[in-house]
Amino acid sequence: MLKLENVTVAASNGDGEELEILNKINLSFETGKMYAITGPNGGGKSSLAKVIMGIYQPAEGRLYLDGKDITSTSITERALMGIGYAFQNPPRFKGLKVKDLLSIAASNRDHGNIERLLRVVGLCPRDYIDREADARLSGGEFKRLEIAMLLARNPRFVIYDEPEAGVDLWTFEQLLGVIAGRHKANASSTTVVITHNERFLRAADEIVLMAEGEVKERGSADAIWPMIEDDIACRWRTTCGGELDEAECYR
Ligand SMILES: Nc1ncnc2c1ncn2[C@@H]1O[C@H](COP(=O)(O)OP(=O)(O)OP(=O)(O)O)[C@@H](O)[C@H]1O
Ligand SMILES: [Mg+2]
Repeated sequence: MLKLENVTVAASNGDGEELEILNKINLSFETGKMYAITGPNGGGKSSLAKVIMGIYQPAEGRLYLDGKDITSTSITERALMGIGYAFQNPPRFKGLKVKDLLSIAASNRDHGNIERLLRVVGLCPRDYIDREADARLSGGEFKRLEIAMLLARNPRFVIYDEPEAGVDLWTFEQLLGVIAGRHKANASSTTVVITHNERFLRAADEIVLMAEGEVKERGSADAIWPMIEDDIACRWRTTCGGELDEAECYR
């Protein structure tokens, strides 16, 4: 189980002012469950993933993995403990080929395995294996490569940050199947999908709704989805007609 206790993350807004981008987050992720995190843009979802991965350090609060305090451990240490994160906007790698990145992630040079991983994310090995993993790959191609790298590492606590972003409709179906299928096949893994996609939300055991740097709701898809629909309608009316006060949108 991974647990966050009162985790607050602050960052500079560029004007010398510190903003709280995560505010006293209390959240636990149980082993064996698949979670979806959703919420409005800028609500703190990627920041939550980054504080779990050790990319952001909390100003306050503690993180625990299976009861062990990991708050002051580095990104590398967390990766070795089995935490993995596929970025919303993956960084590009100049001078490295697709096959190099996948062999590093898979810790071997088994071509069969690398080709299989490429196929799983809908990239034809013949066309991609020798290509440079730099800015010449399209957004969707790189997103799929990033997911293949995470699948290769097979961490026990895995966070996908908007795996659907920029991915075409044909590949989306395949990715949803791969992510949910991997999760089901490994009872000791925890999968977290940050998403704006209803299909991912419905595939999850639990939805966490984040906004304004806080966890607003959590529960089953059946319980949370109607709230999200209400909230979307509420926001729409607020911006378009002002029939409802914004304060009514979030409980
Ligand atoms: N390193 C940083 N420095 C300053 N502000 C940051 C930093 N990282 C995130 N923020 C701010 O924190 C807020 C939450 O950002 P975050 O990326 O976590 O949102 P998100 O929920 O992932 O949004 P989206 O759905 O658009 O991906 C935003 O207002 C963002 O500008
Ligand atoms: Mg994000």
